[in-house]
Amino acid sequence: MIKDKIQNLILTKEPHIGVIGLGYVGLPLSVEFANKGFQATGFEVDEAKAATINRGESYIGDVRASLVKELVGAGRLRATTNFSELAKCDCVIICVPTPLRKTKEPDISYILAASAEIQKYQRRGQLIILESTTYPGTTDEVLLPMLEERGMKLDADFLLAFSPERVDPGNPQFQTHNIPKVVGGSTDDSTEVAAALYGQIVSNVHPVSSARVAEAAKLLENTFRAVNIGMANEMARLCYALGIDTWEVIRAAATKPFGFMPFYPGPGIGGHCIPLDPHYLSWKARQHGFDSRFISLAEEVNSRMPDHVVTLIADGLNDERKSLKGARVLLLGVAYKKDINDVRESPALSIIDRLRAKGADVRYHDEYVSEIRFDDAHTDSTGEPLQSVALADDELKAADCVVIVTDHSTVDYERVCQLSTLIVDTRNAIDGNLRKQSRARVVRL
Ligand SMILES: NC(=O)c1ccc[n+]([C@@H]2O[C@H](COP(=O)([O-])OP(=O)(O)OC[C@H]3O[C@@H](n4cnc5c(N)ncnc54)[C@H](O)[C@@H]3O)[C@@H](O)[C@H]2O)c1
Repeated sequence: MIKDKIQNLILTKEPHIGVIGLGYVGLPLSVEFANKGFQATGFEVDEAKAATINRGESYIGDVRASLVKELVGAGRLRATTNFSELAKCDCVIICVPTPLRKTKEPDISYILAASAEIQKYQRRGQLIILESTTYPGTTDEVLLPMLEERGMKLDADFLLAFSPERVDPGNPQFQTHNIPKVVGGSTDDSTEVAAALYGQIVSNVHPVSSARVAEAAKLLENTFRAVNIGMANEMARLCYALGIDTWEVIRAAATKPFGFMPFYPGPGIGGHCIPLDPHYLSWKARQHGFDSRFISLAEEVNSRMPDHVVTLIADGLNDERKSLKGARVLLLGVAYKKDINDVRESPALSIIDRLRAKGADVRYHDEYVSEIRFDDAHTDSTGEPLQSVALADDELKAADCVVIVTDHSTVDYERVCQLSTLIVDTRNAIDGNLRKQSRARVVRL
């Protein structure tokens, strides 16, 4: 039986693992398998990424270059752009992007492209797993028919499962190996074998009854975050109108030992997950005549935050008899969250756009992001790329307003408080004594 064959291979760490897409999800996963003694091959369309891995280097902050070098040197990890090598893989895991179309509908074209490659080189005895976040039904309705198109049969010739990724870039406490993994197969055999595979690299595997349940669980997790962040953002705007400190309110509420989980406001949501994933769920809901109102409301509230930040900046400048037009505004941090270099969907881009439209002279400092370009789908602006400036004393003194958009740990906020005049803090980076002793006026979200 296919099930026993693959399971036996897994137990002896013999299967060759293929990971399609070596990004924030696929690279750490491949490294984890290779580090646990498996033979891992990453399949990439980006030749530069494949070459970087094969040189023993890393382009993802959470993946140590020294480990990549060791694993490549030991012959357990390599990357390729040659998809015919998929035929050698016993287990193939898809980790490609799942963006949205301009219409905010799911764009599963990357999954389709990866599946077409698998189909081309498919052979009997493979376990195929989808990890890319997607709407419930993708594994069974899209992948399964493709994999059976050439006569192979599920369970008899191959196994198929969905297992969502939960990686949290920049989080040193939780990485692939200690984040529990949900696994749902298209059949019981598929669930069992996929769970056995992940059991080799993660400490806790949670099998569920179907691929659909696993797909929906991932979307629930991220929608839960989007909705609760929306609630915190709405509260922040209300607190601003009421003249009370949002962070103090949240801190006080969080002393309740049960029934409350703190979520924090911010300049808007970013990254490849929270702003996009809920749309996968609401799209599927619409197919069933269902209107997912929490999702639309959260999106509406969250997407207004960049405007609110610009209002805080304009109000702050106004109190000093200055206008946004011609003001020199220095953004600290443009990545979508702290201590990483990812600017996908970052609210910083929308804030820069809006400030530029009002005639402000915008500059930014971000140790992790040397340049931002505006010729992508995230903004309306077609302006010149912006380069990160050094956080020199003169830069802070010359700014009419410093805006903390992302609270990277590398910034000396005490120095920022001493040298600038006005700070708009969207992340509660300037709290407690720091704020009391600040020479700059601090406006908080
Ligand atoms: N980034 C996160 O924090 C995170 C967390 C959980 C889940 N996810 C989900 O995981 C999936 C991947 O996200 P990511 O952040 O790793 O994306 P990414 O953009 O960092 O990486 C995807 C990689 O796939 C490659 N690729 C694209 N098409 C390909 C193809 N046909 N064949 C081979 N390679 C191809 C790209 O070149 C890129 O290197 C998405 O569905 C995302 O929603 C991401």
